[in-house]
Amino acid sequence: MKRTQVLELPAEEIVHQREIMREFASREDRPRTYFVVTYGCQMNAHDSEKLEGMLLEMGMTKAQSRETADFVIFNTCCIRDNAERRALGNVVWLKELKKTRPEMMVAVCGCMMQQPGMGERILRQYPFVDVAFGTHNLYRFAQLMLQALQTRRRVVEVIEEEGSIPEALPVHRSSPYHAYITIMYGCNNFCSYCIVPYVRGRERSRASARIIEEARQLKAEGVREIMLLGQNVNSYGLDVEGELSFAQLLESLDQVGIERIRFMTSHPKDISDELIDVMARSSHICHALHLPVQHGNNRILQSMNRRYTRESYLDRVALLRRKIPDISLTTDLIVGYPGETEEEFEDTCSLVREVGYDSAFTFIYSPRAGTRAADMDGQIPAEVSSRRIQKLIGIQKEITRERYARYMDGVHSVLVEEISKRDENQMAGKDEYNITVNFPGTPEQIGQIVRVKITSAGESTLRGEQV
Ligand code: SAH
Ligand code: SF4
Ligand code: F3S
Repeated sequence: MKRTQVLELPAEEIVHQREIMREFASREDRPRTYFVVTYGCQMNAHDSEKLEGMLLEMGMTKAQSRETADFVIFNTCCIRDNAERRALGNVVWLKELKKTRPEMMVAVCGCMMQQPGMGERILRQYPFVDVAFGTHNLYRFAQLMLQALQTRRRVVEVIEEEGSIPEALPVHRSSPYHAYITIMYGCNNFCSYCIVPYVRGRERSRASARIIEEARQLKAEGVREIMLLGQNVNSYGLDVEGELSFAQLLESLDQVGIERIRFMTSHPKDISDELIDVMARSSHICHALHLPVQHGNNRILQSMNRRYTRESYLDRVALLRRKIPDISLTTDLIVGYPGETEEEFEDTCSLVREVGYDSAFTFIYSPRAGTRAADMDGQIPAEVSSRRIQKLIGIQKEITRERYARYMDGVHSVLVEEISKRDENQMAGKDEYNITVNFPGTPEQIGQIVRVKITSAGESTLRGEQV
């Protein structure tokens, strides 16, 4: 069922929240400095930029480190067990710090908090956490903080149902040249292994007019690259009657004139011909596509509920390569999915060789409570998964080397981001294919797009000289 209108929070609610931020700022007993610790994907990184926007409006300034901050907030991820353990480990580490600085405040939010039962668990097991909330009520952050300060009691608020989309919240972007724009929230796909649909709710698209306006404003502010965010950007607009399709949205954004447009993530099952055509003829959409395949075997793909086959995926890749010959493809891969046999794993290896990705993120399957795959028979022992992932990483390394060799002597355009961490005479930035390029340069070039001739390659970076 399509909605007739975009789900948006009433404007008065945001006005109300911003009043609370100012009220918070006027309190003498408020924390003075903050530090945000972020785990997880770009979506979470952008949520943290929104938290920072609110924190600044609440009268706080950013601390140098979490050790010295009056207020520390953990924006957590629960995509895999290790992500969750790392976040919890760090929260617990803070407990010791709080013994020496009892006035310090601690908050936990994000995907991990949105899991069933987490609210109670925080109350019971983590008494030093002052404020906790989930992904659906981020916009109420100032209100929850004010409540904690006024009552001097712990505040835990996790809402089960996803709400409406908050617009016009303050946001503090971490880079003046590169900006995230969320185009949709949530996911409807329920891949059998994945927790995201449970912690981010159903798909909700923002109004295209809002997105285009945000892009125009960013261009006016000097932003040179935007990254459109959604768990499955290809289904943008499908939840709202009469809304633009993702391909149409991209065309409109192309006309705004920002030099570079990227987007993630694309689900292979609905990457349309129209989208490929728009990418091919656009002036600003980067020729780089992250197209997570997860696995190379049809039985596993079906069990994962991915709704494409190895063959249909390879067909899409062939079409992409035909229409956009220089396209750079990257992917996500899972090894050790329940029941994965040695032969089935080999299908992933052969698919990786066949496609020739520029790079790939490889993950060992991690059971997530409440997902279908967590209850399946045939969970794979850790030693087997480790061996498989090592093999896969080795194969991809070789392929990356081959792919990067093709870039030699080519001239790439690099958006300069920072001084290289390894060598202060070198600058680092991303090229149109989203690969980090290092070249001898000066800090004045930060924020510019420069032409660099590629001369050599590292394991995951390119090096070159300005032309
Ligand atoms: N929406 C994106 C992916 C979000 S999660 C998409 O559909 O492509 C990022 C990646 O984490 C996934 O692509 C998948 O490879 C990996 N992942 C998700 N759940 C996982 C799990 N339970 N165990 C291991 N890896 C997982
Ligand atoms: Fe998870 Fe699948 Fe949704 Fe991606 S598309 S977020 S892998 S359920
Ligand atoms: Fe992202 Fe982790 Fe949540 S990957 S959507 S922060 S579970």
